[in-house]
Amino acid sequence: MPARKPRMPKVAPAPPYSNGFLSVVDERSGTNYRIAVEDGAIRATDLHQIRSRPEEPGLLSYDPSFANTASCRSAITFIDGDKGILRYRGYPIEELAASKSYLEVAYLLIHGSLPTKSQLADWLYNITHHTMLHENVQKFMDGFHHDAHPMAMMVSTLAALSTFYPDAKNISDEHIRYQQAFRLIAKVPTVAAFAHRHSTGMPYIHPSNDLSYTENFLAMMYRPSWTTQYTPDPVLAKALDTLFVLHADHEQNCSSNAMRAVGSSHADPYSCAAAAAAALYGPLHGGANEQVVRMLQEVGSKERVPQLIRQVKEGRRLLMGFGHRIYKSYDPRARLIQQVAEEVFAVTGRNPLIDVALALENIALSDDYFISRRLYPNVDFYSGIIYQAMGFPTDMFPVLFAIPRMSGWIAQWIEMLQDPEQKIARPRQVYIGPPERHLEVTGVRVPVRRPARTVDTRPRPRTPGPRPAS
Ligand code: ACO
Repeated sequence: MPARKPRMPKVAPAPPYSNGFLSVVDERSGTNYRIAVEDGAIRATDLHQIRSRPEEPGLLSYDPSFANTASCRSAITFIDGDKGILRYRGYPIEELAASKSYLEVAYLLIHGSLPTKSQLADWLYNITHHTMLHENVQKFMDGFHHDAHPMAMMVSTLAALSTFYPDAKNISDEHIRYQQAFRLIAKVPTVAAFAHRHSTGMPYIHPSNDLSYTENFLAMMYRPSWTTQYTPDPVLAKALDTLFVLHADHEQNCSSNAMRAVGSSHADPYSCAAAAAAALYGPLHGGANEQVVRMLQEVGSKERVPQLIRQVKEGRRLLMGFGHRIYKSYDPRARLIQQVAEEVFAVTGRNPLIDVALALENIALSDDYFISRRLYPNVDFYSGIIYQAMGFPTDMFPVLFAIPRMSGWIAQWIEMLQDPEQKIARPRQVYIGPPERHLEVTGVRVPVRRPARTVDTRPRPRTPGPRPAS
């Protein structure tokens, strides 16, 4: 059923772009074109009118990996990559991290404004009361091999949830859409913790409604059994909550783009979230936090940092946790994460890898290779070190990214469905394959294009003949 397309979402004031027109001269034909510039962009479809000869296809813009293409108008997250600014719905990330909980921020991302007291109470109630997984989901997860990667379990289980909530297919119903938002945000920590318990062979610990979002997650991860008491450390629960705020959304990144692209075909949100989680799993995106810690462990000490830098500069490997498509100065999340690290270490003791990481950052930021390419630490550079100090196994790190990013994916998905300009995501291509050619069968050329035959469709006169035997 097609999604209801009510109205364009309210748009936050745009950065100070001057609107107007772009004059383009096609030197092939000498023709002038006037193309409208709005909010710092031209419409790629306006290029279609440009052709040097009438029979030629219209001009395309070629942009592999969307390096300079806006796929949507969005009012959710603003990034200024040159200045290192990140805002959710207009609020600076620093202010949100200092004073709002992850679930308040999730509400903000999805609804566009921070919740009132009663809205927050309803929101928390709804999230808290959707944390359970159907018993059959547990059985489904039991089927994974003991050493399955928890992020692969997460991807598959999110897709499997679609079979438990067939009503979710009704994406045009606003109430049903929001019900899936509660379910996904509520259940993703349960799926994550169950993936961990499965890989360690520990009994599943069901959610506790009397705990906060992150306390509940820590309890499901670490409580030895139902008969054993476990009290999550409040400092660690708060630190994890701050990390969740920092990871909640990041505009049109690879996984949000996957969420929107799959959602544009009107697939249900569980299938979309599985696709988004699969995109996040990759080591160039949310899987980088796992690779950073593996890289730091391999380096082992500050003394061996120059050797790693040399390998990176020789092009033999990437410096994981460095570089970003949008940030060309310090990632503001990486700066905030360093503060969280100190809070966590005060409880857990200092993770020695932080000193290797700091030495690596110091050397890299004074080296021309990194300076000239504007490569700075990104969010993944320090997050894994904190997760490790908190006792999370290394392969859980991408999963820890997926839990909070769920709210961003849902916000992006809902905005996409409500945007009257959005259609099925279907990029164009520049074909570079062979021109038309034909099959040869045992030396005989098979004609592909036969001359058109005229078919006589007039009724034929009956020819008298023997009747078929009855
Ligand atoms: N280490 C070494 N060199 C790098 C790195 C790195 N981490 N990142 C980029 N470069 C180099 C590239 O080789 C390229 O050099 P060149 O101009 O000599 O060819 C130049 O910097 C530009 O890099 P691109 O690949 O064009 O940058 P792009 O925007 O395509 O990639 C990405 C961004 C994927 C994040 C990249 O920087 C990278 O692979 N980083 C390591 C993985 C990582 O940390 N990913 C997490 C990103 S944050 C997130 O997704 C949550």
